[in-house]
Amino acid sequence: MYRVLIREAANDDWPQIWPFMSEIIKAGETYSYDRDMSEDEARAVWLLDPPGRTVVATDDDGSMLGTAKMNSNHGGGAGHVASASFMVDPACAGRGVGRTLGEHVIAWAHAEGYRLMQFNAVVESNTRAVQLWRSLGFEVLGTLPEGFHHPEHGYVGLHVMYRHL
Ligand SMILES: CC(C)(COP(=O)(O)OP(=O)(O)OC[C@H]1O[C@@H](n2cnc3c(N)ncnc32)[C@H](O)[C@@H]1OP(=O)(O)O)[C@@H](O)C(=O)NCCC(=O)NCCS
Repeated sequence: MYRVLIREAANDDWPQIWPFMSEIIKAGETYSYDRDMSEDEARAVWLLDPPGRTVVATDDDGSMLGTAKMNSNHGGGAGHVASASFMVDPACAGRGVGRTLGEHVIAWAHAEGYRLMQFNAVVESNTRAVQLWRSLGFEVLGTLPEGFHHPEHGYVGLHVMYRHL
């Protein structure tokens, strides 16, 4: 088990983030990003300016383990609904990094005064993520049938998941 430290992402972190993020995006199994998304596009999507926020998870020695971004999911009358996205280096998967990031994001949203958190597009076949979000208090609100085309499994459902904060 790593000791997982969470801190604000800096522009300098990008060269350590991009290698595993590009691996996850290219695999095309978990995100509705184009699989050939460029590095510049990915950086713009991932490194958020306030009031959004991006964090990194590192080991004691500073080595990069994963990252999460958090933001308002909606505006106006639905501005109290937050959202978040997560990427853990596949080489470090299953060792508690995603859980630590998830707990951090929930605490952030709560402290910022959001009332709900919504994940818009959780791929049904991403059982690790679905299991993790359930264990952090999220439930599946509904599933868009065949909402995601998985490179191996073909058309699979796309969950909307949410929890109160
Ligand atoms: C999904 C993801 C964030 C999980 O991060 P992680 O660091 O691997 O997860 P953790 O080690 O914290 O595991 C958390 C939970 O996942 C579940 N899990 C872990 N390994 C699993 C496996 N092989 N099969 C099913 N569930 C598993 C368990 O519920 C585990 O709970 P536990 O802590 O009680 O064991 C990470 O795998 C990832 O970045 N995947 C690619 C991108 C992605 O899918 N992002 C989320 C999109 S919704």
